[in-house]
Amino acid sequence: MSTPPQLNPVPEPVPQFDLTAQYAAIGAEIRTAIDRVLSSQQFVLGREGAALEREIATLCGVAHGVAVASGTDALMLALRACGVHAGDEVLLPTFTFVATGSAVSALGARPVFADIRPETYNLDPAELERRMTPRTRAIIVVHLYGLAADMDPILAFAKARQLPVIEDGAQTIGASYKGRRTGSFGDVACLSFYPTKNLGAYGDAGMVVSNSTEIAARIRTLRDHGQTEKYLSSEPGWNSRLDEIQAAILRVKLRHLSEWQHARRSNAATYSRLLQQIPGVMPPLEPECCEHVYHQYTIRTEQRDALQQHLAVRKIGSTVYYPHPLHLQPLYASLGHKRADFPHAERAAQEVLSLPMYPELRKDQIAWVVEAIGEFLKC
Ligand SMILES: Cc1ncc(COP(=O)(O)O)c(C=O)c1O
Repeated sequence: MSTPPQLNPVPEPVPQFDLTAQYAAIGAEIRTAIDRVLSSQQFVLGREGAALEREIATLCGVAHGVAVASGTDALMLALRACGVHAGDEVLLPTFTFVATGSAVSALGARPVFADIRPETYNLDPAELERRMTPRTRAIIVVHLYGLAADMDPILAFAKARQLPVIEDGAQTIGASYKGRRTGSFGDVACLSFYPTKNLGAYGDAGMVVSNSTEIAARIRTLRDHGQTEKYLSSEPGWNSRLDEIQAAILRVKLRHLSEWQHARRSNAATYSRLLQQIPGVMPPLEPECCEHVYHQYTIRTEQRDALQQHLAVRKIGSTVYYPHPLHLQPLYASLGHKRADFPHAERAAQEVLSLPMYPELRKDQIAWVVEAIGEFLKC
């Protein structure tokens, strides 16, 4: 057996994210909000949900918000409201969480993958022309890790072909592109409030936001069994209502979101400044036109797997989002893709690593993470 390497002393574990620190700060406010719902005894489609819809729509700079049960439901409902049917094709980046593709598949439609720009990890607009076919019915744009995709060329392409654009903003609430918030660019945008998101519920939750009164009304109907009035349904929907307790929790957290985003951005700035001294690591890019909200702080390096192991030994958490692009997932084997079909996404999948990132992360913890990275790369 080989001798294990000598390690520097570990100051303390640094998790990749830590929700307990947040709860310690806002627990009393949360419990008051939950109590308010319990006293009202109204649990579904009540005042909290309606208020949350207005508040999130305002944050995104759009007219309507419709709260739903998850980000995945938001995507499925948005696709339906945009007229996507079984057999249609939907363009989307291959480098994303599986839900972006499986929402398309759940409707019997076909995801058609596109490659990413290697420096931002977001959809390469030039790919749209290459991948479009006469059956293309919609485009899903993912704003990955908290950074907006390059919307201008995507919107110009879609407008010229009258294709609806759906923003998958699951990771990007509050981010902006050219001075406008994400969620306000497409025909419709989908948000996730999964607990680890920048704005996270205490369970599953999501929302669709849109400037279109028609789309918002259709989603309102679809999320509640297709009912246009009580016990009168005009089309098949399902139950995707957000409950009042989650809405009340999210409203409390929303009051803190801008201060948390600020802390995330400050943490990212510290990482990027310290990482400048370490060759072989590419920090995340924040193009001048964008305000990144750092849902993830994602570096890339050719020695990713060994670096992750090195960090784990020092009890520093890190995660690979995502190790398998959608076109190489067993789920999509029937689409017949092979390695090298989408080279930028495949390389990113091998090289990206998300470091600890949450608002309460301290600067000395960041310095320790960067020191451990430098130690590995022998700086
Ligand atoms: C890019 C992206 N799209 C969609 C989703 C699905 O959201 P949810 O987990 O709320 O269903 C997620 C959640 O992780 C996501 O990161």
